Amino acid sequence: MIPVNIPIITYKDAKEVFNTVKTGWVSSSGSKINKFENELAKLTKRKFSCCVSSGTAALEIAIKGLGIGKGDEVIMPAFTIISNASAIVKNLAKPVLIDSDPITWNIDINKIEKKITKNTKAIMLPHIYGFPNQMDLILKICKKHKLYLIEDAAEMMGQKFYGRPCGSFGDISTFSFYANKHITTGEGGVLLTNNKKIYQKIIELRNLSFGKKDRFNHSDLGWNYRFTNIQAALGLSQIRRIKKIIKRKLEIGNIYYEALKDSENIFIQPKKKKYAHNIYWVFGVLLKGKLSGKKNLIQKKLFKNKIETRPFFWPMHKQEIFKKMGLFKGEKYPVAENLSKNGFYLPSGLGLKNTQIDYVIKELKKII
Ligand SMILES: Cc1ncc(COP(=O)(O)O)c(C=O)c1O
Repeated sequence: MIPVNIPIITYKDAKEVFNTVKTGWVSSSGSKINKFENELAKLTKRKFSCCVSSGTAALEIAIKGLGIGKGDEVIMPAFTIISNASAIVKNLAKPVLIDSDPITWNIDINKIEKKITKNTKAIMLPHIYGFPNQMDLILKICKKHKLYLIEDAAEMMGQKFYGRPCGSFGDISTFSFYANKHITTGEGGVLLTNNKKIYQKIIELRNLSFGKKDRFNHSDLGWNYRFTNIQAALGLSQIRRIKKIIKRKLEIGNIYYEALKDSENIFIQPKKKKYAHNIYWVFGVLLKGKLSGKKNLIQKKLFKNKIETRPFFWPMHKQEIFKKMGLFKGEKYPVAENLSKNGFYLPSGLGLKNTQIDYVIKELKKII
């Protein structure tokens, strides 16, 4: 079976983890955490960095860390991972959805301003699959309407917008270190900011908001979303080769792109926009024309040929849980709906060999 993702953990990575475990500093104290946080801040040109237990945890802390809560609205795309919406809902605020751009699959920027109300406090902005959002336009909207920006760069470590790193744009920016991300610590995430006050709040929130005077007298409800020294050792070992990692992601994406760009009845994202190269966190295929609606069948056929694929995200307004909660009633986002109906992605992990990519291409072409 060719899995959708195979991470690369080198002998050196494993040795770093082994050496760290042997020191006995296995929990959320230990020198590696600060070192990893410093490297992440350096990579994204930020002042402060706070590692947490996942990208989802980072988003939950981000909302609360900015003081967003009951009665507040946060704008976000309909097509993304549930972590964005759940972070808002769990903090008792309201997600306000926007449809996607049909080419980049990111939020449709032209539709944002119409949805801003006096209760809007922030834009939660994931970069989806490969291209960064058009940050100049987003920042302009935030400035004009005095909105916070939470930049969810989970999929975009090492990506740049006009040469400026993703993860450098938000009042808070976040990453994930899940196994399919460019750098993985197994599970993990980080919040980055330039604002000292926000930083102080988020480091409290990741650690149960322990009391400053009396440790067990808490002034706020935080979480145990701590990151471990073992995870940091693994992350530190990998961050040194981030350029090599991005280079390989580009290679994988380009092989797929060149082989599939002229195929009838599938849409694939462009290789390049004026502001960025697609780094293909995952290589997505969107069925169209006479293949429209045949996603499950094609995925099944690929699976029979020992190729694992994943469907695209399920849009927020179609989520069972949000329907039960009475959210997004009667709302329609046709681009997001089409993406989830017709999109899936091919094996795209760093451990993929070129012979495996060639096999995936050959089998996919046969099927379509
Ligand atoms: C855009 C985006 N945000 C957040 C997350 C959640 O990250 P984690 O799995 O570390 O909680 C993901 C996970 O894939 C993601 O793609």
